[in-house]
Amino acid sequence: MVEKISETRKSFDEALSKVTNPQSLEELRLKFLSKKGIVNQLFEDFKLTSKEEKKLIGQILNDLKTYTQSKFNEFIQKLEKEYTVKKAASIDLTLPGKQKEIGSKHIITQTLDEIKNIFKGLGFSIYEGPELESDYNNFEALNFPTDHPARDMQDTFFINQNFLLRTHTSPVQIRLMKEKKPPIRAIMPGKVFRNEAVSAKSYCLFHQVEGLYVDTDVTFAELKGTLVAFIKQYFGSEIKYRFRASFFPFTEPSAEMDIWWQPKGKEGRWMEILGCGMVDPNVLINVGIDPEKYVGYAFGMGIERTTMRKYGIDDIRLLFDSDIRFLKQF
Ligand code: DAH
Repeated sequence: MVEKISETRKSFDEALSKVTNPQSLEELRLKFLSKKGIVNQLFEDFKLTSKEEKKLIGQILNDLKTYTQSKFNEFIQKLEKEYTVKKAASIDLTLPGKQKEIGSKHIITQTLDEIKNIFKGLGFSIYEGPELESDYNNFEALNFPTDHPARDMQDTFFINQNFLLRTHTSPVQIRLMKEKKPPIRAIMPGKVFRNEAVSAKSYCLFHQVEGLYVDTDVTFAELKGTLVAFIKQYFGSEIKYRFRASFFPFTEPSAEMDIWWQPKGKEGRWMEILGCGMVDPNVLINVGIDPEKYVGYAFGMGIERTTMRKYGIDDIRLLFDSDIRFLKQF
């Protein structure tokens, strides 16, 4: 048996020296090192030897096992090393590298971030509501009675009789006032939906930022002051503005704010940027806030049109097309 062991060692060495490809390496492994390979077979034979023989053979048999296994491992390591070196050598360092495009925030997201930051600086917190809204929150609680013509101001995507895609961010005011006790001072950004024909000027989806301040002594003068502070930070301190009386069911009195817009080389004109007013007492009653004790102001602005003006974009669809060539510019 001793002889058999030393022969196995020799034939293993010889076979290993002849290995030239993965296939012959695998053949060698199967022949010598696998479960049914020669080495294991020798261990089977070993079981049948006498006690005295065992003492002698045990050691050299174990040596054979360690030897063959470690030679095999060494060989594989050497192969791996050679492979990495070869691979590295085949890289042409003079070739131009592959450029990875770095993404950036969508221009609307950038605008929203900017608006949020300005209002944060003015003491407003940020609150969000769902895009799928109840008819009650979107209209009823905001003092749009059923069948009231004011509902036609906003073409609605109805889901069923009671649910719809919100047509403005004003229902978030309702959620906020139901959830928190005054004083409340927050802005509510988000997407809104209107069932309008898509064109360069209008889209079925856009963004609004709603604002609300409810406390014991809120005045219309404060509302104006806050909005003026906002547009001066957003458009620059030179911006010209005006307030016009208007109508919204959920505010009384109501107003709209215009800014004077004059693109380079073009004629200037007034451009409406937001609606605002003092929260109608009916709305406060609907959310369980006592209108004898509390007053509030609210405002709401569309984001797309102001963004378009600011950057000279003439088609609203560009903001929703995800065309990289357009978006890259910002
Ligand atoms: N929700 C109105 C709209 O979408 C905008 C608006 C006007 C919001 C006056 C207000 C407000 O909070 O006070 O046309």
